Amino acid sequence: MCGIVGYIGKRQAYPILIKGLSRLEYRGYDSAGVALINDGGDLVIYKTKGKVADLEHAVEGKDLSGCVGIAHTRWATHGEPNDVNAHPHFSESGNLALIHNGIIENFRSLKTELQNQGYHFKSETDTEVVIQLIQYIMDSHNISLEEAVPLALNSVIGAYAIVIVDKTQPDRMIAARKGSPLIIGVGDGEFLIGSDATPIVEYTDRVIYLGEEQIAFLERGKEVRITDLRSIEQTAVVKKLEMNLSQIEKGGFPHFMLKEIHEQPDTTRTVMNGRLHPELGIVKLSGVIDHKKRLMAARRIIICACGTSWHAALIGKYLIEDLTRLPVEVEYSSEFRYRNPVIYPDDVVIAISQSGETADTLAAMKLAKESGAFLFGICNVVGSSIAREADTGCYTHAGPEIGVASTKAFTAQVETLLLLALNIAQEKGTVSPEQRQSIIKELPNIPAKIEKILGHDKQIAELAKTFTYAHNFIYLGRGYNYPIALEGALKLKEISYIHAEGYPAAEMKHGPIALIDEEMPVVVIAPKRGHYDKILSNIQEVKARKGRVISIITEGDTDVRNISDYYFEIPDTEECLVPLLSVIPLQLLAYHIAIAKGRDVDQPRNLAKSVTVE
Ligand code: G6P
Repeated sequence: MCGIVGYIGKRQAYPILIKGLSRLEYRGYDSAGVALINDGGDLVIYKTKGKVADLEHAVEGKDLSGCVGIAHTRWATHGEPNDVNAHPHFSESGNLALIHNGIIENFRSLKTELQNQGYHFKSETDTEVVIQLIQYIMDSHNISLEEAVPLALNSVIGAYAIVIVDKTQPDRMIAARKGSPLIIGVGDGEFLIGSDATPIVEYTDRVIYLGEEQIAFLERGKEVRITDLRSIEQTAVVKKLEMNLSQIEKGGFPHFMLKEIHEQPDTTRTVMNGRLHPELGIVKLSGVIDHKKRLMAARRIIICACGTSWHAALIGKYLIEDLTRLPVEVEYSSEFRYRNPVIYPDDVVIAISQSGETADTLAAMKLAKESGAFLFGICNVVGSSIAREADTGCYTHAGPEIGVASTKAFTAQVETLLLLALNIAQEKGTVSPEQRQSIIKELPNIPAKIEKILGHDKQIAELAKTFTYAHNFIYLGRGYNYPIALEGALKLKEISYIHAEGYPAAEMKHGPIALIDEEMPVVVIAPKRGHYDKILSNIQEVKARKGRVISIITEGDTDVRNISDYYFEIPDTEECLVPLLSVIPLQLLAYHIAIAKGRDVDQPRNLAKSVTVE
């Protein structure tokens, strides 16, 4: 969703800000803007609906001088995407400008109060209220900006990451956060600010993750000063940024999504590194070992997640129940947090999130914590809010995922859940040593098997051209491959805008079968493992109605191959590991159909990478 960049230092700010905005494009946005205190001492703001490239076009020939500035990509919540609603926003005096991520829930009442005091609003946004409120407090209490910011933030209800510049103090910048992340890069006599680390990594690897309800006062050439909202001084902890520039560049691929699909042999290898010990036949997760007693006391596991992470959660349910015999419930975080769920103090709640910032999942965790449940986080982004909220957990270590449609993070989540299930099963003795051994022995073969599937990329690209006509797709799978059917359908929907539904294959006859005719593509995940005979019958049912079957089959399987219109082979593996392979051709199919339809796969319309609003 929205992206923040800020710069104060010795260099010209504009090129750094605009590059930072490009790095944040992956988050999803609909307008962009920049504010600079220029060399003449003026505070200038340029903003436009559309892409960062449109902003660059709009500022051609304008004065872009200045060593301090803020910039923003907006994903509309309050007010449509247009030039006026884009950030930054000015205060009444024209001296202050602000950018904001998050939502101010009480903006209506604050706005009315401020309007009654004679303040004029230009936009429909909740954001403009914050900068006007700060100005009002400064004016009415006759106090400085530094004093007014905490007072204003104490009156605000909601979530925010904000950065403010003041024309009358061109050597200073203020940043604050509550519920939305903000990172400060500490350079040599300069500071960079980002809503994530991508705009910062090129300039410094020294970062401060601003804490919840903290305010940072940045002054050119001075040490950063941090307080909480009550103005009590806090310690600034500078950490080393675990990210490098090559991880956030395309590395020769036309799109981040394709690069990330092709990274999966590496990422699946990384997930097991240091955790899987095939020579000993065991799995060791430090997040489990350190809290063994509490985890083993659980009588139930609840998994909360959204989107693709929710599909990983569903596979997690199958894995954990199968291997540990613990009952697992999978919840959409957004439903869980609002539906008065039953949570026992001995429950373990697993929160899965690539970004670690999804607002609903964070809120679901807070609710579970209030009921005394133990929180286990599975996140990709190190130091993210969900990772910090959890009592323990496990990083997926897939590296930065820039493509909006999640691919490598998904397989890393599934693999992490498998390791978690194996670790618990090993402690509880709920799985036979033979079964455990055969999974542990096979897991290291998965990266090479993914590599082999990726070798069919061209064949999948060719097939994709056949299906650009389709307005609908059905995806079917059983057992471990039912969530893969959901994920395959979601991938296609997200980036090609073709309507697609995933179903447990047996449910087809309870409705979706009515949709099948000679035009309907039906993707069936039909590996030899699992419910093979059953799914074979489901394919026959599709064929009897002239549907066009695209099957995912085990190498060498002629039975399904012969009744399919098209097929992709995947190598054989243990049943519980099949999802790590069967999802790969579906990611590629979605990618290539979207490309064939001319879609913007890395930044699909209306979607955001990190959903920080509910
Ligand atoms: C957004 C993204 C999805 C992601 C979902 C959950 O919708 O576009 O790719 O699966 O959020 O995000 P999370 O970061 O919590 O995994």
